[in-house]
Amino acid sequence: MKTRAAVLREMGLPRPYAVTRPLRIEELELAPPGPGEMLVRISAAGLCHSDLSVIEGARPRPMPMVLGHEAAGIVEALGPGAAGFTEGDHVVFSFVPMCGDCLPCAEGRPALCENGAAANTAGTLLGGARRWCDAPDGEMNHHLGVSAFAERTVVSARSAVKIDPALPPEIAALFGCAVMTGVGAVLNTARVPAGASVVVFGLGGVGLAAVLGAVVAGAHPVVAVDPLPEKRALALTLGASHAVRSGDHVVADVRAITGGGADFVFESVGSEVVLAQAYAATRRGGTTIATGLPHPSKQFSVPAVSLVAEERSVRGSYMGSAVPRRDVPRFVALFQAGKLPVDRLLTHRVTLEEVNEGFDRLADGQAVRQVIVMT
Ligand SMILES: NC(=O)c1ccc[n+]([C@@H]2O[C@H](COP(=O)([O-])OP(=O)(O)OC[C@H]3O[C@@H](n4cnc5c(N)ncnc54)[C@H](O)[C@@H]3O)[C@@H](O)[C@H]2O)c1
Ligand SMILES: [Zn+2]
Ligand SMILES: [Zn+2]
Repeated sequence: MKTRAAVLREMGLPRPYAVTRPLRIEELELAPPGPGEMLVRISAAGLCHSDLSVIEGARPRPMPMVLGHEAAGIVEALGPGAAGFTEGDHVVFSFVPMCGDCLPCAEGRPALCENGAAANTAGTLLGGARRWCDAPDGEMNHHLGVSAFAERTVVSARSAVKIDPALPPEIAALFGCAVMTGVGAVLNTARVPAGASVVVFGLGGVGLAAVLGAVVAGAHPVVAVDPLPEKRALALTLGASHAVRSGDHVVADVRAITGGGADFVFESVGSEVVLAQAYAATRRGGTTIATGLPHPSKQFSVPAVSLVAEERSVRGSYMGSAVPRRDVPRFVALFQAGKLPVDRLLTHRVTLEEVNEGFDRLADGQAVRQVIVMT
């Protein structure tokens, strides 16, 4: 079938994207779902910094590719053996498909699925196939098994989680990445206990979701750090107790508020320089959690003795260490109970045609989550 999709053919084009238009809206051929796969009509798709990093070339992927990985949709057709779903189901996607067979999956850590990671790196679905076709007969890659900047997509059933159909699609989409990553980093990776001190560096969709996660965990103080005053103001309205401007004084400021450093410090910028600040703002015995994704060439170093003499921990958190089928319904229930107001992260609704302008806005820090609402 034919479907319209936003295609990236070349990474690293200069800004403004409103002029260079790295994402082109094209009519592509989409093959029917194969074994274990399903055809999904996209209802809403969020713009995440990880998409922007692919556009910039900071997170290199095989080209050409249909971008987008944070989305909600409705199942339209099932391939053979797509267990657990029926036509008409409302779903959100997880951006690592879980094979269920590898060691991390067996350990209950599907965010680290080895077969899922290999498929994501190759630009295929979990089973190894590509269902997009580039005219005439060329290969077109999937983004993280999802490729949501499209009217329709084909995914592995192991990339999807069923959700309550009452959830508005533009809110549902956020659970696929920002919420799963930010809230998951706090509740799953760090397991922040009530009363612990938390600092979050970087107040985009991921960082603000981490602030919401820290609030629901009962952390105090919750210190929110960003260069942009509007982001800091929003964090305060979401329950952060303090907001600090980033810059030369940030570590001293955070250490003053937390009495010598915080128990848990989250980096959600994607900068190795900010990660070093996060480490410096962590107290003796505390944990620094990296959720931002720096360019693969970047290194991070710490005084080696501090790990031992201060019993420090540094942890990475991918997809919020989530078990999507457990965590998406859990986080949705918290939202529906009014305890996790993730709708506050949604700042803009855009059309598929406005996707390049949306990425300019994200790069300029003028938006938190922008969601493409499919018409
Ligand atoms: N670990 C994962 O599974 C995962 C999932 C999604 C996104 N990510 C990564 O997380 C990062 C954040 O994603 P996002 O979509 O929230 O991005 P975003 O662009 O919406 O937010 C980044 C924020 O960082 C702020 N910032 C910039 N420089 C800063 C500094 N020096 N100190 C403090 N804050 C600073 C910006 O003003 C902005 O508010 C990206 O690197 C993204 O690739 C990781
Ligand atoms: Zn993302
Ligand atoms: Zn696996």
